[in-house]
Amino acid sequence: VIKIAIVGFGTVGESVARILTNDPREQLSLSMIFNRNVQRKKVDWISSDVVWTEDFEVVLESDVDVIVELVGGMHPAADWLEAGLAAGKAVVTANKQVIAEHGSELITRSVDVGRPLLFEAAVAGGIPIVRGLNAGLAGDSIIHILGLLNGTCNYILTRMAVAKIAFETALKEAQQKGFAEADPTADVDGGDAGAKLSILTAIGLGCPVSVGDIPMDSIRPVEYVDFSYADRLGSTIRQVARAKVVEDKKDAVCASVGPMLVPQDSELARTQGSENIVVVTGNRGGRTAFSGHGAGGDPTAVAVVSDLMEIAMVGQVRTAWPTERAQGNVQVDYDAKHYLRFVVVDAPGILAKIAAVLSRYEINVDSILQEPGWSKSELPFVVTLEHCNTSSVRAALSEINGLGFHAKKPLWLPILDRGES
Ligand SMILES: NC(=O)c1ccc[n+]([C@@H]2O[C@H](COP(=O)([O-])OP(=O)(O)OC[C@H]3O[C@@H](n4cnc5c(N)ncnc54)[C@H](OP(=O)(O)O)[C@@H]3O)[C@@H](O)[C@H]2O)c1
Repeated sequence: VIKIAIVGFGTVGESVARILTNDPREQLSLSMIFNRNVQRKKVDWISSDVVWTEDFEVVLESDVDVIVELVGGMHPAADWLEAGLAAGKAVVTANKQVIAEHGSELITRSVDVGRPLLFEAAVAGGIPIVRGLNAGLAGDSIIHILGLLNGTCNYILTRMAVAKIAFETALKEAQQKGFAEADPTADVDGGDAGAKLSILTAIGLGCPVSVGDIPMDSIRPVEYVDFSYADRLGSTIRQVARAKVVEDKKDAVCASVGPMLVPQDSELARTQGSENIVVVTGNRGGRTAFSGHGAGGDPTAVAVVSDLMEIAMVGQVRTAWPTERAQGNVQVDYDAKHYLRFVVVDAPGILAKIAAVLSRYEINVDSILQEPGWSKSELPFVVTLEHCNTSSVRAALSEINGLGFHAKKPLWLPILDRGES
């Protein structure tokens, strides 16, 4: 039997305590709960044997075997994980921020002290993707990871498509229903998915990268009209996190987070509402998809309790984090088809001017789409591009941005190939 301290009795902490109380496992015993101002956190359904404390030193000095860190944020959580290992405790955490930034040091520390550090809940909540990469697909050599890792973005984008509403309206709805934080920055601008992607890149592709090196684009500029153009292209829009090994380079990956057009018949498009999906491609095994609830107290608590069960049954388990490898490089330039949406003050010759800049960068236009019935003073139309490098599109767009006919900043979305999704 292992004795457990829950550190942080919030949404996930409470759900973990409920599983351990209502659905007890003979190997797991909840013995301590830590939170600031703990008095107001006490609930009557927890056994009277459990010690409540607001002093972290009491946790460290106790006889608990495992510290379950569920306070979130970088500080003091990172120090508490380190202190827990130093005190000879096993550690389980749901903290993507800390693992994305300090995974290498913490796993090294965990190996040095001979105590496990597990973090299944830090990526895609209840979906067992860390264990899937670490154990289930360990026999393969993974080359590509593609995911919808942020339920808030998926909820907002699917609501925009289905209810034909603006980003702000969908965001408010997500906040009212508890799918989005009051401050949605980390979700909609890509930081949350970026942290999860950097963890998957380390354990899946064997290349640890800094979250700050992953290019991230916000979903904020996506408008309803983009879904109607995407529909004409047989696609929809999702916030996609992806990482791919760069051929012949062990220390580099191509990675990004941001809105993309994805084919309507793909697994990514079929992932609706707040659900998550991760599609992993291996050299030998091909594609494997993991999908389900990427957040929420109960699904996330399931991942935490699964880590606890593994520690109870196996003992010193180790996540395959490449601690011996220096931080890899993120290549930001990649080849794709592209979607460019312009909103212009209509005048003769606009298309010719855009085409002239694109041809100077040797970019081929694939199609031009324009829905009828829009005002001439804010006329949206779309140009799709054949396969070309993102660096060429970036350079061409910065020239096109300088032309005087825009009513809004153009929107640029990469298009995911059918074979990739
Ligand atoms: N919620 C999800 O769906 C979900 C999904 C996947 C991963 N996660 C991760 O799980 C972790 C916990 O998330 P959560 O949603 O459960 O958060 P939460 O509801 O905000 O709970 C955090 C708890 O920790 C306590 N706490 C925070 N800072 C503290 C400090 N400095 N000292 C003492 N206690 C402190 C809070 O106390 P107060 O009540 O005083 O604030 C609260 O009870 C985070 O790392 C999060 O990223 C969450």
